[in-house]
Amino acid sequence: VARNPHTLWERLDRDALATLRGIESLMSKYEYVPVEVLERRVRVPGPRLARALNLLNSLKLIRRKLGGIVGYTLTYTGLDVIAYDALRRRRVLAALGERLGVGKEGEVYLGVTPEGDYVVVKFHREGRRSFSHIRRLRHYATSVDRKQWFRLAKLVGEREYKILVVLDELGALVPRPVSWNRNAVVQELVPGVDLYKVKGGLDPDVARQVFDDVVETVRVAYQKAGVVHGDLSEYNILVSEDGRGYVIDWPQYVYREDPQAEELLRRDIQYLVSYFRRKYGLQATPEEVLAYVKGG
Ligand SMILES: Nc1ncnc2c1ncn2[C@@H]1O[C@H](COP(=O)(O)OP(=O)(O)OP(=O)(O)O)[C@@H](O)[C@H]1O
Ligand SMILES: [Mg+2]
Repeated sequence: VARNPHTLWERLDRDALATLRGIESLMSKYEYVPVEVLERRVRVPGPRLARALNLLNSLKLIRRKLGGIVGYTLTYTGLDVIAYDALRRRRVLAALGERLGVGKEGEVYLGVTPEGDYVVVKFHREGRRSFSHIRRLRHYATSVDRKQWFRLAKLVGEREYKILVVLDELGALVPRPVSWNRNAVVQELVPGVDLYKVKGGLDPDVARQVFDDVVETVRVAYQKAGVVHGDLSEYNILVSEDGRGYVIDWPQYVYREDPQAEELLRRDIQYLVSYFRRKYGLQATPEEVLAYVKGG
């Protein structure tokens, strides 16, 4: 099944896009938007609207509810396509290529800009995350209930974009943010490989550099941005082609003042230290790294 938002977007005409956006705009009021309400919102004549709805439904960009009142609700993929369309209009993106991430928490694609540069596009799917994971985000979104998943996904997109802006400006080694719309975040492609995928292991001096880079980013994030990553592991560290360590996947960060911050910081550091000890024999202790990260 082609779930690539670009491939799906190519199937849509103006009526379908207008209809999709119309449903989105009514999602804050209705779990399933009644057809009559949609007819009033979208300036697409009845028969054309019906055709657009059938197309969107068959592509699974919306879901139809039959019963007393026929209604439509947006799907995650529908939201992805709206965000992708907006980023095209803004001339941020021209196409999407292969999928880079295979997670259930987000869909990550290689993107191409109108200038032909490669970028990374992450479509957030946070409503699906395990509840405990969302609970942390709920500090910042206490009013977001489960039916309003799309609000959470957009909020997370905004969070990820904005924290990348802050960290990048502070000189931390994170992907440079390019743009964001709704649940979609566009960021610079860091050519390299995920730390956990490195075949045969890194050279000792590269391993040391990557470790030091990550510790430095954790320190800058803590001291200057006032945040803790909260999900640091070999899965969220990229080793660039020039042997530097980049920390990715930030949207679940918490502020230093958060009651959970201390515990999360300790856990992040514990993971980091034990991974590099196990794989590369690095001798740093969690206590000394923690002291360095928090130290003046
Ligand atoms: N800026 C980037 N440059 C290069 N590759 C990236 C970049 N961002 C993400 N990736 C690739 O996409 C994968 C998933 O990205 P990320 O960790 O941000 O999302 P995720 O929500 O954890 O998704 P998943 O559950 O699929 O890992 C990364 O492991 C990495 O391989
Ligand atoms: Mg990840």
